[in-house]
Amino acid sequence: MRILVTGKNGQLGQSINKLINIETKIENNPNSNKYTFVGREELDLSSESSISHYFDNNNKFDIIINCAAYTQVDKAEQEAELANQVNHLAVKQLASIANEQQAKLIHVSTDYVFDGESDKPYTETDKTNPINVYGKTKLAGEKALQAVMPTNAIIIRTSWVYSEYGNNFVKTMLRLGKERDELNVVSDQIGSPTYATDLANAILNIVQSIEFKEVGQKTQVYHYSNAGKVSWYDFAKEIFKIAKVDCKVNPITMQQYPMPAKRPKNTLMNKDKIVKVFNILHSPWRGPLELCIRDGTQG
Ligand SMILES: NC(=O)c1ccc[n+]([C@@H]2O[C@H](COP(=O)([O-])OP(=O)(O)OC[C@H]3O[C@@H](n4cnc5c(N)ncnc54)[C@H](OP(=O)(O)O)[C@@H]3O)[C@@H](O)[C@H]2O)c1
Repeated sequence: MRILVTGKNGQLGQSINKLINIETKIENNPNSNKYTFVGREELDLSSESSISHYFDNNNKFDIIINCAAYTQVDKAEQEAELANQVNHLAVKQLASIANEQQAKLIHVSTDYVFDGESDKPYTETDKTNPINVYGKTKLAGEKALQAVMPTNAIIIRTSWVYSEYGNNFVKTMLRLGKERDELNVVSDQIGSPTYATDLANAILNIVQSIEFKEVGQKTQVYHYSNAGKVSWYDFAKEIFKIAKVDCKVNPITMQQYPMPAKRPKNTLMNKDKIVKVFNILHSPWRGPLELCIRDGTQG
């Protein structure tokens, strides 16, 4: 199997790479699946010709895992065209290429396709209604993928991703918590955090599954995050508790902390489908947070 992973320098790309390295060492069988990791230097998703050029000049792949995305939620309000190219048009192009190569495609999307007004966890069939540019471009990517690839793809929506890598809320809190005595954090936005290693593990389990290997499997959307719900305020308090950082956290409202992009209020997602179809379990969010802080974000 030849598997291409885009976004090699991102949180999810690096987390998949970490797990592949561990797996290869344990099984001592580096050739069972051959992974190729690419970043924007090799495959620039903002350029149609860069995408064509990359696939024209490489052997065919069996699976493409698209971890790359334009993820700067606030900046996207000013760079809507670029965000749309990366999150929508490039995904459409990847889907056409996957079709041509008879490859399967795993694409990652976001809880921000929802408006956050529901009082129940969102299911995969609930109405989407993104309230910022990032969410709109990610939803357009989902729709284009489904239109071009009605079979052989899956879309995994995830939320509040953090890891040892890159920029994320956990690392920002740890940095600010050491610099300041107190911090104001939003308490009226609720979601489920996702440790990127757990999402990477879920993706690798799907790759190995019989259900995914079936040729012509219908393209479907799945939700994945860690279990449980939390506000950014409670999440920040737990981060400081685990890391033993002495910093007072004050709850504030989203209104008191205006950002260029609007944020959905409640983006809890129902994960029953991914459990039922792929037997992917999702552990409560505190355990993975502890692991992540212990393993790397403090260094
Ligand atoms: N982070 C979250 O909280 C969150 C929440 C919900 C859903 N998601 C989704 O989860 C997936 C993985 O997110 P993540 O947290 O791993 O994001 P990330 O850390 O921001 O990584 C995204 C990667 O995409 C790459 N990229 C951006 N523009 C590109 C371009 N024009 N060409 C090629 N590569 C490009 C970036 O490259 P550089 O390193 O060179 O900038 C980066 O390595 C994405 O689909 C995202 O939309 C994330």
